[in-house]
Amino acid sequence: MRSDKSLFRRKTIAAILQNPPADAEGHSPGGLARHLTVRDLTALGIAAIIGAGIFSTIGKASLDGGPAVSLLFVFTAVACAFSALCYAQFAATIPVSGSAYTYAYASFGELAAWIIGWALIMEYAVGNIVVAISWSDYFTGLLDGVGLHIPTYLTTGTQSAYQNYQAVMALMEAHQPLAQASAAQLEGYKIWNSAPALFGNWRLVADLPAFTITVLITALVYVGIKESKTASNILVLLKLIVVAVVIAVGAFYVQPANWHPFAPNGVGGVLKGVSAVFFAYIGFDAISTTAEECRNPQRDLPKAMMYALIICTVLYVVITLVLTGMVSYKELGVGDPLSFVFARIGLPRLSGLVAVSAVFAMASVLLVFQLGQPRIWLTMARDGLLPSVFASIHPRFHTPSFATIVTGFFVAVPALILNMDLVVDLTSIGTLFAFALVCGGILIIDPYGRSEARFKVPYLNGQWVVPLTLLAGGLLLFRYNAADNQAFWLDVSGQHGWLREDALTGKVVGGFAHQIPTLVFFLFCLVLAVLSFRKRLSTLPVLGLLINLYLMTQLGISNWTLFFVWLLIGLAVYFGYGYQHSKLSRGVPAA
Ligand code: ALA
Repeated sequence: MRSDKSLFRRKTIAAILQNPPADAEGHSPGGLARHLTVRDLTALGIAAIIGAGIFSTIGKASLDGGPAVSLLFVFTAVACAFSALCYAQFAATIPVSGSAYTYAYASFGELAAWIIGWALIMEYAVGNIVVAISWSDYFTGLLDGVGLHIPTYLTTGTQSAYQNYQAVMALMEAHQPLAQASAAQLEGYKIWNSAPALFGNWRLVADLPAFTITVLITALVYVGIKESKTASNILVLLKLIVVAVVIAVGAFYVQPANWHPFAPNGVGGVLKGVSAVFFAYIGFDAISTTAEECRNPQRDLPKAMMYALIICTVLYVVITLVLTGMVSYKELGVGDPLSFVFARIGLPRLSGLVAVSAVFAMASVLLVFQLGQPRIWLTMARDGLLPSVFASIHPRFHTPSFATIVTGFFVAVPALILNMDLVVDLTSIGTLFAFALVCGGILIIDPYGRSEARFKVPYLNGQWVVPLTLLAGGLLLFRYNAADNQAFWLDVSGQHGWLREDALTGKVVGGFAHQIPTLVFFLFCLVLAVLSFRKRLSTLPVLGLLINLYLMTQLGISNWTLFFVWLLIGLAVYFGYGYQHSKLSRGVPAA
């Protein structure tokens, strides 16, 4: 094999697939054990999807968007379905661990593959920080419910408590009345002051349950895929039963009057929930990281992804309608909306049951993501982009042992400290980016749907469909999004300045910089409309790419800035290590 110094050096699909078949004991050549069937994979998908999103972040999305947030679930499901089709074609073409990272290596080349592998850390490890924090909230609530009280300084993230403490201190120093502080700020101040002193002004405030559950799940994942599979299947069954009960009982308490107005805050209000709603879907792609542990990955991975996505979409849309039909959307801005509605209508037992199931639901999400992240690192290490220790397989458990421990550390420690809102947004932006690249990757390896893979994205000639769909989408937004269109115009014409911040929250709410992602998106639409027209590109990957980019534009410039900083750190690591050590660069065949 020749060495290749190009940043766009690509692994050929044939080279990726060079692995010999599994040995007599069912272990794949990399040493991983092949146990998973289509049912296990669908269960793993559902295990990863239904979690903190539907049990927690959907509350705030419903408050902003009203009952129409159910439509956002449909829209987001369509975006995910297009991405899932592209993932499925890749999974059928390149059935090895590594998910979108491996797919990008074969389509865009090494630099993009590294970037996507780096972005996937946002989806898996950072996403799991969200889930661990949310798990801790529900778990602590349950313990309180049965009279077991852990001191709040041991169940609160350091960052939230410190920020709230600082806000109250600032008011005191300015001799302002404390009535100006929010309840959360006063609570944070109380927690900080009640905590044992460490050194200087620092206190022992940390989210211990979030840390502990991450350590326990990491230990399970370390011990083996079979054990993880059994645990995951049991957890999924349990959460599906509880979700079905919520829908069946809740349906009797729906008052259709609560569905009017359907979109009280217009399209803008609905779109505020993009991050939360998208977060609820993240996970169907995680099953592609187990490709080397599937009995028949080419056949089963595509099926399982679609099954999991369809089942979850139906459940999400129905749950949102039931939820917003049971009580006014105005009451739903809580962290535990599903259990809250039952307490609110006078069914405390059912409320408790939902809270218990949330604890299990979120544990299963943690499990799948703790399983996925080390397998991506394993693949990157096999390619020489990470040190080879990340590819080491435990001789007895046949799991990527070192990478599993690093993942546990990477999730458990920040979960002690970080604030949840920040990590939800980062997870969504990183994942949308990965999905967009996977759709783009299909356009590169198979733009006209001619692949011989056992599964491929159905080809629909995009010559007219893509430009006309974009035109129709633009007209719809123009017609139904008047308020936001006006704000957009004020921003791009410079009338709001470079950045406009909300006086109360300090968050960026407008300004020219805020619209840069949208302007770049318009450019993309134009380019892809022209390319589709001229080259008759396959419609579904093009639309998948554009929908994911559109959802990304809704996440605000502050998140984009953080995301870019993250990518820059990733590039520094690549040029500091991966570029020299890459097996392609050294002319060494991949393992
Ligand atoms: N979709 C997963 C959840 O909602 C990440 O927890």
